[in-house]
Amino acid sequence: MGAQSPSIKSAARLAIGLCRCQKPRRVTSPPVPRRFLPQGPLTGRIRVPGDKSISHRALMLGALTVGETRVTGLLEGEDVLATAAAMRAMGASVERESDGTWSIHGVGVGGLLQPRQAVDMGNSGTSTRLLMGVVASHGITATFTGDASLSQRPMGRVIEPLSRMGACFEAGPGGTLPLTMRGCLPAVPIEYRLPVASAQVKSAVLLAGLNTPGVTTVIEPVPTRDHSERMLRGFGADIEVKETGGERVIRVRGGADLAPQTIDVPGDPSSAAFFVTAATLVEGSDLKIENVGLNPTRAGLVTMLRQMGADIEALDAREVGGEPVADLRVRHAPLTGIEVDPSLAPSMIDEFPVLFVAAALAQGTTRTSGLEELRVKESDRLAAMAAALTAAGARVEESEDGLVIAGTGGEPLPGGGPVATHLDHRIAMSMAVAGLVSTDGVEIDDTRPIATSFPDFMALLEQAGQ
Ligand code: S3P
Repeated sequence: MGAQSPSIKSAARLAIGLCRCQKPRRVTSPPVPRRFLPQGPLTGRIRVPGDKSISHRALMLGALTVGETRVTGLLEGEDVLATAAAMRAMGASVERESDGTWSIHGVGVGGLLQPRQAVDMGNSGTSTRLLMGVVASHGITATFTGDASLSQRPMGRVIEPLSRMGACFEAGPGGTLPLTMRGCLPAVPIEYRLPVASAQVKSAVLLAGLNTPGVTTVIEPVPTRDHSERMLRGFGADIEVKETGGERVIRVRGGADLAPQTIDVPGDPSSAAFFVTAATLVEGSDLKIENVGLNPTRAGLVTMLRQMGADIEALDAREVGGEPVADLRVRHAPLTGIEVDPSLAPSMIDEFPVLFVAAALAQGTTRTSGLEELRVKESDRLAAMAAALTAAGARVEESEDGLVIAGTGGEPLPGGGPVATHLDHRIAMSMAVAGLVSTDGVEIDDTRPIATSFPDFMALLEQAGQ
């Protein structure tokens, strides 16, 4: 292999070659539409499932240790199960013991085996990009495939730094799946300044750095979620994080062994977001959501809703698995439209769809900008939410990098649909929340994607509404 001369080969030719022999082996079931109707106030106590970002990382780092890593509170959504299957395909033992409790026996840093078949990443961009980082510094070849949504998402943002480290890639047009990569052993340490605020890109480079001689450096001009750094430190990696001139500089020295851990995964703030917003919007609600991760790099929605007038109390603040956690008490409150500070975007990047729903019910206008990243998520979330909210009767204008939403001042939306969710779990759940505050309900074209991150969403919604 030209290990030190990385190449990204001609896309179209390779895409055709891959498609012939390595189609994703996907079981296709028909879409499951559902109309979400107004229901009673949200009350009582609920617990949302484990954090998706942390769950992925726990499985990956566990697979890179020798010995047993035990994880409790693991999210058992399809995305995380895709990571578990991939780690198994590369030689780790990953076993489910009981609800949310998993045991991993890893192969050690540098010990992953070449998967025998293409690894199906389903809908999960995080699994794909982080694993590309892991594979980049192993002497193995792996092919990644995904569903129709994932197959459109840009992988060039990880191909670029990982190529500099020596990995070679064959990808579809514009750097898309299906993608075959050859890792490089030994890989080359790099210093990489993130051109986009992306925790996935940061994490891919840091994970590649674990098995790379010398020091791999990532510079973050804008801070993004720091679960990788926290967990790498917890597993005993040689990692240093410094703030310099307003930037975060993260250095990992390769070659250190990781030590197996016991990890308790906190509840996912991105899943809690749907209930925080629903309880804020539905009159009479008083809901307690227990054990919610409140890492400052993830807590932007709570800050934003509070600025709009929401009544969200954080109780019993504590630390779980190296992450700040609290119970949230949310009571209904009227909201006022706001100009959303774009610098908050990374700390609530997955919460904009549901924030748009809150804005549609607020008094006055909410303006967002600087959100071009939303166009390359599981769907184009600006276009998808503009269309979905319009179908539900909201007044929305879409610009290149944001939405402007004129709220109803608390009056229910007319409702309607069916709205297209484009294989995007967060569009589906956000519009389910919109249905709760509509006159006629909101019909979602397909609820299947919800299982990628929040399999119990509908059961919990019913429970909270009773
Ligand atoms: C994630 C990072 C974010 C986020 C995604 C999970 C992670 O993506 O949207 O759902 O776990 O690192 P980007 O890195 O593309 O912003």
